[in-house]
Amino acid sequence: MAKILSVGIATLDIINEVETYPLENQEIRALNQVKCRGGNAANTAVVLSQLGHHCSWAGTLADETDTQTILDDFNALKVNTDFCEILPEGKIPTSYITLNKSNGTRTIIHYRNLPEYSFTSFRKIKLSAFDWIHFEGRNVSETVQMMQYSKKFYSEIPISLEVEKPRKNIEQLLAIADYIIFSKPYALSQGYVSAQELLISMKKQFPYKTLVCAWGEKGALACKNNQILSQNAFIPDTVVDTLGAGDVFNAGIIHQLLAHADISAALLFACRLAGKKCAAKGLENLTIN
Ligand code: ADP
Ligand code: FRU
Repeated sequence: MAKILSVGIATLDIINEVETYPLENQEIRALNQVKCRGGNAANTAVVLSQLGHHCSWAGTLADETDTQTILDDFNALKVNTDFCEILPEGKIPTSYITLNKSNGTRTIIHYRNLPEYSFTSFRKIKLSAFDWIHFEGRNVSETVQMMQYSKKFYSEIPISLEVEKPRKNIEQLLAIADYIIFSKPYALSQGYVSAQELLISMKKQFPYKTLVCAWGEKGALACKNNQILSQNAFIPDTVVDTLGAGDVFNAGIIHQLLAHADISAALLFACRLAGKKCAAKGLENLTIN
C-alpha cells in the first residue's frame, strides 16, 4: 500500500436533509442535521485511507472549537495531520449543505475566511516519504510553488491534480501535474459542452498526460495516449447522497493508478466506488471487492 499526501481543504459540513428542495424565501423544516468534516482533498484522503493506504492531509485549520471535529474524524479514519497549519485567526471553512432526500442532490453554500495553506509550510514536509501527491486546484499562487518544488526535487513522485472550479491562472498547475481530473463545472465554465469536448481540447495541449473528466450521473471519460475512453456511472436503486461523489471518484482513480491499472480499469473502479457512495450517506464503508 502506498504513502499518499493530499493537499487542499478540510471543511466543517453542516448538512440539513430536507424532504424536497425549498423554493426561494420559503420556510421549511429539516428532517435532520449532521455536522461533519468535509473538503475535497480531505475527503479523498479518508477514502484512500479506507482503501488501505497511509494518507496524510496538508492544509489549514483554525484555532477554534470546530477544528476538533475535523481532527477527530481524520484520527478515526487514520489520516495523519502532522503537516496541517493551525492558524490563530479565522474560522474553519464551513459549508451549509441542503441534502435533498428525494434525489440525493446536495446544494452547497460555502463560506471561508481562513488563509490557505502556504508553500512555506509545504516545504517543511519530507516528501521523500511519499509515493504520490494529490493537489486540489486552488490557492494557485502557493500551489504552483508546491508543485514546482515537488517536480524539481522529487520528480519520481507522481502528482495528481483535481480541477474542480475555474480559478485565475489555474493553467499554471495543469502544466505541472502528471494526472489531471477535471470536473463538469470546470468544463462548462470553459465553454465545453461535454467531457469529450474538454478532453479533445486538453489532449492537444497535454498529449503526454493522463486526463480524466467526471460528468455526474453520466459517468466519466479519460484520455491517455491520444485515446478517449468512457465509463457509465453506476446509478444505485436509490440515490441517497451525492455529497463528495467527486472526491470519492478521485480516490478511486488514484488507488487504481497506484496499482498500475490501465485507465479503463481505473475509470470502472472509480465510477463503481462513487456510485456506491451515492447509495448511502457519508464516506465510510466504501470498499469494493
Ligand atoms: P461532484 O459533484 O461531487 O464533484 P461528480 O458529479 O463530478 O461529483 O461525479 C463524480 C462521479 O460520481 C461520477 O463520475 C459518477 O461516477 C459518480 N456519480 C455522481 N453522481 C452520481 C449519481 N447520481 N449516481 C451514481 N453515480 C454518480
Ligand atoms: C464535497 C465537498 C464538501 C465541502 C465542499 C467544499 O465535494 O468537499 O465536503 O463542503 O465540497 O467545496
